[in-house]
Amino acid sequence: MSRAADILTAAVKAKSAITLGLATGGTMVPLYAELVARNRAGSLSLARATTFNLDEYVGLAPDHPGSCHRFMAEVLFDPTDMRASHAHLPHGDALDPKVEAQAFQARIDAAGGIDLQLLGLGQNGHIGFNEPTSSLGSRTRIKTLTVSTRCANRQYFEIEADVPRYAITMGIATILEARAIVLLATGSAKAAAASAMIEGPLSAVCPASALQLHPRATVVLDAGAASALQLSDHFQHVHPEGQDSVFS
Ligand code: F6R
Repeated sequence: MSRAADILTAAVKAKSAITLGLATGGTMVPLYAELVARNRAGSLSLARATTFNLDEYVGLAPDHPGSCHRFMAEVLFDPTDMRASHAHLPHGDALDPKVEAQAFQARIDAAGGIDLQLLGLGQNGHIGFNEPTSSLGSRTRIKTLTVSTRCANRQYFEIEADVPRYAITMGIATILEARAIVLLATGSAKAAAASAMIEGPLSAVCPASALQLHPRATVVLDAGAASALQLSDHFQHVHPEGQDSVFS
């Protein structure tokens, strides 16, 4: 967790007017708590940052308790010096979600793209809400959520019928256009997806495997998420204790 926080902190220090791509979800909660602590301690400022979130659920207004808007406000934006007008998420309650998806992609492009994209990992290998078999060439659009993703999201909604079925999500090509990527995954429930992402074939069946194409993608795993890797001896050798290789 502190490794991912260190990468983000170093990126913001190197370019204070940075454009960050952000993710929601349980994995991000301790990371954002660490960033909030650093912000309060004065060692990290988000005052000049611009952010674009990966996704939002279709049908949810920004003040809905289960929305990505609300999550980001609570765990990162409100407790830090981040400026609300610089934080962008798709509007799930837009009259025409398809038009909103295209407009969101246009906003990313108009901002000059994303410097550093933060990602979580779905148990089924999704990134953003690009579910298995999403086009590797996709840009921001609407995706139908899988049953497994809806089950994982059940905890954020009062009743099952409220769990959204669709999301506006950056596409896989949108994600790959970011100049750098950091993917964070924790816990053994992510072990199979992490192994498929890193060691499996490049395939739309595991959307996260698309990161194999990116020249500056860093994957940060805890022991649980790394537990199914076949080549872990090699990864430990190159990145002792998770640090950069000597040639980085
Ligand atoms: C959320 C997102 C998703 C999550 C993934 C992991 O904005 O893009 O890809 O990162 O579903 O979610 P958690 O962290 O809740 O396991």
